[in-house]
Amino acid sequence: MHPAQRRPLIAGNWKMNLTRDGAVALARSVARHAAGACVDVAIFPAFVHIDAVLSALRTDGTEVPVGAQDCSDAPNGAFTGEVSLGMLKDIGCHWVLTGHSERRHVIGETDDIVASKTAAALGAGMTCVLCIGETLDQREGGETDAVNERQLRAALGGISPADMLKLVIAYEPVWAIGTGRTATPDDAQLAHAAVRHVLQDLFGAEMAHRTRILYGGSLKAANAPDLLAKPDIDGGLVGGASLEAGEFGAIIDAAAALAVSA
Ligand code: PGA
Repeated sequence: MHPAQRRPLIAGNWKMNLTRDGAVALARSVARHAAGACVDVAIFPAFVHIDAVLSALRTDGTEVPVGAQDCSDAPNGAFTGEVSLGMLKDIGCHWVLTGHSERRHVIGETDDIVASKTAAALGAGMTCVLCIGETLDQREGGETDAVNERQLRAALGGISPADMLKLVIAYEPVWAIGTGRTATPDDAQLAHAAVRHVLQDLFGAEMAHRTRILYGGSLKAANAPDLLAKPDIDGGLVGGASLEAGEFGAIIDAAAALAVSA
């Protein structure tokens, strides 16, 4: 299990799902479940639901970070359809995902774009969950660690140690996202350890040791205990299974049980 200084984080990436009422209800239920848990929990609704979710949690007096799934790297201006970090902060949203594989591989974001968004998010004082991971071809070609290293160096090359304290990494093998296929716990552990090694090279041993590295890719209640038990897996970024309160709650419980027994 991860060392005590890396508090586990279970994050729900809701992608382009739910209605506003559905998002609010799910957020309320997740926040109730997360209250008092000895792990961190965060949720990432669609942009248009963030404000309503934040208001509902404020009314309930519950505290779960509510993040955005993407952001612009520009402060303002003629960028039709984009949402700035300032707009997010203005409504009380202080977390953001960058580099999610669907943005890299479906929308076409390059390493440079991901780097720019990551730097902008951290520069704006947001907590940033940077997603990295290899495609199936890359895995089968034995390139997993090289791809992760390239994506990490591209995104983190210009990041200061102070900003690193607000960065979380999510290793998400692309072939495991939404497919029902997961990396085996041993394969995931190997990839996480290699990621931590790159962090050590970039920022030194202490920073590498304290940075949380989440696993993502068909994480669910049934496989969470084995994956989350690995020493370099510090939580999960959960897509499909985060849309059901019971299933997501069970993943939170699995992380909490491991944290208690560590
Ligand atoms: P999944 O998605 O859990 O549905 O595989 C994970 C993610 O894309 O973050």
